[in-house]
Amino acid sequence: MKNRPIGIFDSGVGGLTVVKQMFKKLPNEKIIYLGDTARVPYGTKSPETIKRFSIENADFLLKFNVKIIVVACNTASSTSMEELIKHVRVPVVGVIKPGARKAVTVTRNNRIGVIGTYTTIKSKAYVREIKNISPKIDIMSKPCPLFVPLVEEGWLREKATFAIAEKYLASFRRKGIDTLVLGCTHYPLLKQVIGKVMGKSVKIIDSASSVAEEVHAILMSMGELSDSKKKPHHRFFATDAVEHFVRVGERFLGTKIHRAERANYV
Ligand code: DGL
Repeated sequence: MKNRPIGIFDSGVGGLTVVKQMFKKLPNEKIIYLGDTARVPYGTKSPETIKRFSIENADFLLKFNVKIIVVACNTASSTSMEELIKHVRVPVVGVIKPGARKAVTVTRNNRIGVIGTYTTIKSKAYVREIKNISPKIDIMSKPCPLFVPLVEEGWLREKATFAIAEKYLASFRRKGIDTLVLGCTHYPLLKQVIGKVMGKSVKIIDSASSVAEEVHAILMSMGELSDSKKKPHHRFFATDAVEHFVRVGERFLGTKIHRAERANYV
């Protein structure tokens, strides 16, 4: 049972930033990754639609007998966790809680900024999680939708990217936040630009590594960490445009994707 795979899904390639951290933290685990490239972006869609997509994605992963499901998409995590937990029998981990927890431990002046897609910010999921841990924290949040296409286009350090980041983030600087949560799978690739715009005094939180730590902790507590000695054979699926998924995805993963397969349920 221990050597069953870990299932991870995202709306597209972005969740591969979480897979990258999983490779580091859990090198023995086999991963089944699903990118719902046929229906991306989730960030502009309604919670009802995203819930439906998330359940379908989870059902696809369950066919591989996964031992845990990681919702690597912030938009899906901020809208669909309750439904997913009710729907599946294995543990489900989202990206909001680990990111919120990390931000609360890092802030010194109790002023945290959160950026994400329209739907993530509108859901107030980060605000709820942070306030749950520490009600006295002041939270400012804002959608930064243009960051997603910039990252997919590979414009990670262009002048235009700096200008857009400056426009989105100036109000956070004025507010004097000392911690900024990157509440979207794509934003870690803009960490340099965002860091430069915000200045050295602001800590940038990317939940990907906290998620990997959380998955490790859950599997360990359940006695479900893989003890396989074989190099794991990961599988990558996309619901559409598999070649594009591979090309863009390699940037997110930081290594080669030798093969991706088409998931046909959409
Ligand atoms: N994966 C989404 C997220 O983390 C970003 C892309 C999308 O809008 O689907 O919120």
